[in-house]
Amino acid sequence: MLSTNPFSILAETVSPIFMQLFVIVMAILVVVGTLLDIIHKKNVKYFFENAKKAKLSAIKTLSTGEKISVISKTIVSDIATTSELGAGKRRMAHLLGMYGTILFWIGSVIMIFCYSTPSSDTPNVWPIIWHVGAIMTVLGGSWFWFFLRVDVYSEAQPWYRIIQADLFVLALLASALFGLIWSFLQSLNLNNRWDDKLFLILFIISNIVLFGGVYWSKFAHMLYKPGAAIQKNLAEADGSRDNLPPPADAPKQYGLGIDREKAKHY
Ligand code: HEM
Repeated sequence: MLSTNPFSILAETVSPIFMQLFVIVMAILVVVGTLLDIIHKKNVKYFFENAKKAKLSAIKTLSTGEKISVISKTIVSDIATTSELGAGKRRMAHLLGMYGTILFWIGSVIMIFCYSTPSSDTPNVWPIIWHVGAIMTVLGGSWFWFFLRVDVYSEAQPWYRIIQADLFVLALLASALFGLIWSFLQSLNLNNRWDDKLFLILFIISNIVLFGGVYWSKFAHMLYKPGAAIQKNLAEADGSRDNLPPPADAPKQYGLGIDREKAKHY
């Protein structure tokens, strides 16, 4: 199953054109959802106004070389390894899910646009990337959703309590999980049995919810976060610090209680 391209088997019953159109529609939904979100929250407007305001209190003008160095470090650390999540489980789970999703999406696009006819000779690497990506997404996403979500981890809410903020992680998890189950069932060659078709439909629906739900979900954080990290590190380097005070040069005095429990109340 791992080295079988599920889309080339699907092409025996569904034209590759429909699959390609589906991917294009999903990309358009992401663009439209993000634009609507930007207009509604005015977050990008705020972001640029804030950056402009902070610039006024800069104590240093960064050269192009310094800017490139700050941006490169941000890409390597803040973005590629989500360093803001610290060194623990939270970061591990996010990296698993993030790289899993990237592999899953790249594998999908390549197989659907380049190898989606029944006669396609797909190099093994693409189906493997797609399946491994889906497995990593399921592992990272479930680890986060069952154990690390703030409402469960810090607020003692039960894991099965679902709110709108869970739309993104749940739709992401569902699309990877249903994709895997569909690919597995389809690889069994069940002919006219209903199971693989049911999971194909669930795979399609979860993708529509994931990409169509951008306006209501946390999907767009993967676009906003990198921009915010670059701005924060540039503001740190030019001394404007987003108009925040520098860390106090004084001994930490939190009292003995600070050592009694690991900080986890956000
Ligand atoms: C393909 C790219 C990405 C995927 C699939 C992804 C996926 C996720 C998921 C599923 C969550 C949990 C959402 C929730 O709170 O319900 C999350 C949270 C988060 N993501 Fe991402 N993400 C991506 C990119 C990024 C990037 C580039 C950054 C930072 C530069 C980032 C930073 C964060 C942070 C700080 C959280 C909150 C984590 C927490 O509450 O433990 N993500 N991400």
